[in-house]
Amino acid sequence: MCGIIGVTGVDDPLRMLLDGLALLEYRGYDSAGVALITADRPGDGSAPVDGAEAQSAIDRHHSIWRERAAVRAQSIPELERLAPTAPAARAGIGHTRWATHGPPTESNAHPHLDCTGRVAIVHNGIIENHREIAAKLDAAGHQRTSATDSEVVAHLIEDELETGATLLEAVRRCAGVLRGDFALAVVYAGEPDTLVATRRTSPLIVGRTDSVGVVSSDIAAVLGTTRDLYALEDGEIAQVRPGSITVIDAAGQAVEPLAIRVSWGVQAAQRDGYEDFMSKEIHEQPRALTDTLIGRILPEGTTELEELAFTEDELKAIDRVIVIACGSSYHAGAIGALALEAWARIPATAEIASEFRYRDPVLDERTLVVAISQSGETVDTYHGLREAKRCGAKTMVISNVVDSLMAREADGVLYTRAGPEVGVASTKCHLSQIILFQVFALHLGQLRGTLDPHEAAAIGTQISGLPGLVARALDRSDDYEAVADELAEVNDVFFLGRNIGYPIALEGALKLKELAYVRAEAYAAGEMKHGPISLIDRNAVAVVIATRGPLWEKLLANVEELRARGATVVAVADEGDEETARLVDMVLPVPAVDALLSPVVAVVPLQILAYSVARARGNDVDRPRNLAKVVTVE
Ligand code: G6P
Repeated sequence: MCGIIGVTGVDDPLRMLLDGLALLEYRGYDSAGVALITADRPGDGSAPVDGAEAQSAIDRHHSIWRERAAVRAQSIPELERLAPTAPAARAGIGHTRWATHGPPTESNAHPHLDCTGRVAIVHNGIIENHREIAAKLDAAGHQRTSATDSEVVAHLIEDELETGATLLEAVRRCAGVLRGDFALAVVYAGEPDTLVATRRTSPLIVGRTDSVGVVSSDIAAVLGTTRDLYALEDGEIAQVRPGSITVIDAAGQAVEPLAIRVSWGVQAAQRDGYEDFMSKEIHEQPRALTDTLIGRILPEGTTELEELAFTEDELKAIDRVIVIACGSSYHAGAIGALALEAWARIPATAEIASEFRYRDPVLDERTLVVAISQSGETVDTYHGLREAKRCGAKTMVISNVVDSLMAREADGVLYTRAGPEVGVASTKCHLSQIILFQVFALHLGQLRGTLDPHEAAAIGTQISGLPGLVARALDRSDDYEAVADELAEVNDVFFLGRNIGYPIALEGALKLKELAYVRAEAYAAGEMKHGPISLIDRNAVAVVIATRGPLWEKLLANVEELRARGATVVAVADEGDEETARLVDMVLPVPAVDALLSPVVAVVPLQILAYSVARARGNDVDRPRNLAKVVTVE
């Protein structure tokens, strides 16, 4: 989940690194750091590397300048303060950290150096055999200075360089002894214009212009420099120099890097005048949904999903669907599975990816496993997808990142078109995942003949209307904020729903706990009387999903049970539904829509509720504590 950036061939690499880190910070913000290859003799930043004389000149005239800061969410401003004093340089690497091994202190912040101080590395992921490697390094006399798993890499490379290997070869050999998931960028004072990068599971891209080379964990951080970008495949090692990229595989053979298609502009990754990314992204939702639907629902309600790359016969042969995902993407999957069962009459379930991957699932070629992942990188979902493939299932991904790790792994892919999402808590991508899954369910329903043309057309028309209904819900933000004002001091909230309302409740609870740090639990409302109801008293607060679906009356019966025990009840209810409004204390009104489509609108007030309570409590909504946007560790 850490962010990595590297640049070579520019006059002010520190500026580029710091700007890039600011864009990467959502991946982790426990600490940050940079390392520059400094040209001690001005203008000497890209000296030749061949020949003993030239090499000794390099050794005399280049060194590594490193600075790190560990002030949670403030490390980049700390580093900014040092910028005017930074030495001349042409190349460097930077890192923003989400701590896994070792607390978020300065000594654990990246970049890490070897014993000579001439090699600097930044790492994302986990080196699983770091203890074993560290024991060997310690026995050989290496001096380690951090509690991280990452530092061993710098020392391993140091040993390889001592044998006379180039940096590229040293990194290749080092990667060969590492177990686990990693993305690495490395610089070495002995090759002052070179960045070397490699990866296994954790993604990494490289790019170039005629005179510059870049490495990054994220497209957004380097998009301002170049769109000539390449994704490294598992095990590949790239040598990036000003204007050139050479890639080899784990065996040392030259390979052609995979070019990346980029559809975003730089602007899309900025805040556009909103106070934070989260409010920008909440308000972008109608646009994100419209873009996700373009060309996929035709006027008469038929669907067009050609890019899916499965034949009609393959899709018809599917007899079971398992959706795997994490966090908000899992909730989108649970919503999608209900639509799939209802419209396409295929048994469908959603599973938490981190559980699925280790339970030795029974799958065959008639099972379709759908991985939902905004980033396309979440490590548990990625490994779940690989496990599904290993077991012979068909696989498909719903992702927001074109050519992401999972998109390249799966048999088929559908892209949401939400644009880059920076706020750690997913909003516009979550809704886009839901709507795209609904289109997929409608598609299968039509294909399998489980929906007649009239039903399909009606559903298609309603899906097409959802972006407008989300805009209408957003127009009621004041109503939602008023409820948030009432709940600003609350410390314990139940979220209750039935059927399609249950995953909505799960998402509402997740948003409130991750942003506002309020204990919030979601229950299937019918399950309350089997235990949780003993927690209900006059101090209890419950948010119920009470839009008018087939189980609305049963849900109201659950509301009566809460009211009888003195709880304060807030209902997400259809606009103008006086009957529900009379029964509860506060209402979050949303435009009415068919029950299976209702999550797209019903989630909106819950996002704003969590956002507003978090802001009232002074929390950083874009960077909630202990979280990261992209979870690339188990
Ligand atoms: C993290 C984020 C969540 C997100 C989840 C899954 O926990 O904070 O917002 O829903 O990862 O991410 P993915 O990229 O796989 O959708």
